[in-house]
Amino acid sequence: MKHLLVIGIGAGNPDYVTVQAIEAMNRADVFFVMDKGVAKEKLIALRKHIVERFVTDRDYRIVQATSPERRRDESDADYRTAVDELNRDKQQIYERLISDELQDGEVGAFLVWGDPSLYDSTIRILDAIRAQGNHTFAFDVIPGISSVQALAARHRIPLNRIGKSIEITNARGIADGFPAGVDTVVVMLDAKHTYKRLAHEALEIFWGAYVGTPDEILISGPLRDVMDEIERVRDEARRTHGWIMDTYLLRRRDTE
Ligand SMILES: C[S@@+](CC[C@H](N)C(=O)[O-])C[C@H]1O[C@@H](n2cnc3c(N)ncnc32)[C@H](O)[C@@H]1O
Repeated sequence: MKHLLVIGIGAGNPDYVTVQAIEAMNRADVFFVMDKGVAKEKLIALRKHIVERFVTDRDYRIVQATSPERRRDESDADYRTAVDELNRDKQQIYERLISDELQDGEVGAFLVWGDPSLYDSTIRILDAIRAQGNHTFAFDVIPGISSVQALAARHRIPLNRIGKSIEITNARGIADGFPAGVDTVVVMLDAKHTYKRLAHEALEIFWGAYVGTPDEILISGPLRDVMDEIERVRDEARRTHGWIMDTYLLRRRDTE
């Protein structure tokens, strides 16, 4: 039987790698390293650094594959279709890796940015492959420190307020306003400064880019007061690095 490990490596700082993740990495015969886009080189280098630093007990192979990218020209209505198409393309690549690059009895590892349960398709894709029945393998998931946890820690804030709910969403989740019935919203994958649409609401923002890395930038304050600064700093950082990874937390100011 082939065995796969889906290992969360934390969102940026190699020190986020857990003891459980290190032990899992030391069981792997093959590391599948996937990435895409302009940040590819840097993110692949970080994964290789993590493997070199933490795998001490055994020989291993690294197999690199280019991950397909989602169509970006789709309308909101097409978003789900574009994600489904992307996952289908990814599934084909994963199937090839599992059949061609992993022998029976071996352990293969996918190193997932942050935590595998959050805005990551690896688990869904492995489930889909198993459901089709053409490949037999077992898999385990090792949790990692997500960018959401890293953001909260770096701003030294709790995610939720006492007795209040939080929502984790992408830019689409706040495009039409702050979600009803929620006290705190964490927004990921926002390429368009969507927080600016909420300027009329009494909100506080805790924003972070490249959190946990040497390039980390943090800005916080009343949304209305700091949103233009965030926009300027974000655009500048994106120009300088060629890519950006940022997350923010928005919280109602009038409820506590
Ligand atoms: C495809 S999702 C993957 C999330 C990941 N599984 C996690 O647990 O954080 C990518 C998004 O996560 C956020 N993100 C990941 N790493 C980050 C970091 N170091 N700093 C800020 N945001 C980050 C950004 O919103 C980015 O667009």
